[in-house]
Amino acid sequence: MEISNYMREEHRSCDEAFAKAEQAASSGDFKEAFKHFEEFMIDTLKHFSKEEEILFPTFEEVSGSTEGPTQVMRYEHGQVRELLEQLKNAIDSEDKERFFSVADTLMILLQQHNMKEEQMLYAMCDRLLAPQARELVEKMKEH
Ligand SMILES: [Fe+2]
Ligand SMILES: [Fe+2]
Repeated sequence: MEISNYMREEHRSCDEAFAKAEQAASSGDFKEAFKHFEEFMIDTLKHFSKEEEILFPTFEEVSGSTEGPTQVMRYEHGQVRELLEQLKNAIDSEDKERFFSVADTLMILLQQHNMKEEQMLYAMCDRLLAPQARELVEKMKEH
């Protein structure tokens, strides 16, 4: 459970930053919204890069498959990255309506993505990568 615990914790902390950004935007405080959004964006991109550069390649190597779940996850990361750009633009132009419309799409996509990872991919990683779990988590912490 070492891998899934660590990764799930990161999902949670991204969720929290995002909730704070949404809250600030709904009260019209775009400066505050941007501060929390930036935190959310940096954390999310960092989490993606831990997956793409450390966890997924190890999973692919051990499972012998690059066309399974990791390929779908990488594709979804691309979709989230595009939405992050759009959300950044909405904040820059203080477009509240646009902010919430993009934020909704982003949140639905990210929640589904995270759920798939937690229920499927991370569970597979826990099983398949048990011998190197500790080392992997350490590597991701330092990343
Ligand atoms: Fe992911
Ligand atoms: Fe993830």
